[in-house]
Amino acid sequence: MVITVDGPGGAGKSTVSRNLAARLNFAFLDTGAMYRAVALCALGEDAALADLDPERRKTWLEGIKLELLPGGVALDGRPVEAFIRNGAVASAASHISALPEVREYLLGRQRAAGRRGNLVAEGRDMGTVVFPEAELKFFLTASEEERARRRFKDMALRDPQLTLAEVRREMAGRDARDLSRTLAPLRPASEAIIIDSTGMKEEEVVALMLARAQKIAGVRLTGFSL
Ligand code: DC
Repeated sequence: MVITVDGPGGAGKSTVSRNLAARLNFAFLDTGAMYRAVALCALGEDAALADLDPERRKTWLEGIKLELLPGGVALDGRPVEAFIRNGAVASAASHISALPEVREYLLGRQRAAGRRGNLVAEGRDMGTVVFPEAELKFFLTASEEERARRRFKDMALRDPQLTLAEVRREMAGRDARDLSRTLAPLRPASEAIIIDSTGMKEEEVVALMLARAQKIAGVRLTGFSL
């Protein structure tokens, strides 16, 4: 069974999806981390992916060694989770995610994860493009102010120079790109359950999702109590 969680940045998708997966004993697929890892690799090699022709872009992608390990994404066998959660990589990820070859490359890997068994998949196009047949789909959002505040709280620990205004600006740029790109733009699947998490605690969102999972799919839940 696949459960999809899509939505804009800062809506709390990662924490909530990770928690939901753990409670259901499902695997967790963080597709934003996959786009970020490809972006990190391109930044590291100074590869301007947008300037390459499609064939060379494909060859470049085939050459990278991206792995999904239990602790996060890895490149060339080296865990890179600690290097992908910053503004530069987020912005590069948002740009390269509009390239068809990049989406195609990651789509194959994401679907392969779905074939391995029960999965909570989080991203922008999980319910619309990658897993259109998913049994349960969520679209998690929150007000722009709240999303910027959450992202700022997350990132300020790693980057003390950062300001809320910068985070808000960067986020608005990414939202605009994610929403307007031609390929797999950010939007809820028609059958997605939309949750506005503004003012909600993480645990409340997870409880709501677990209740839906139980009701709609009748899955056996582990450690679930409301
Ligand atoms: O969720 P995130 O902030 O880690 O995602 C980083 C970028 O990757 C985001 O700006 C858009 C892109 N992305 C995407 O296009 N499709 C996905 N399924 C996940 C992320």
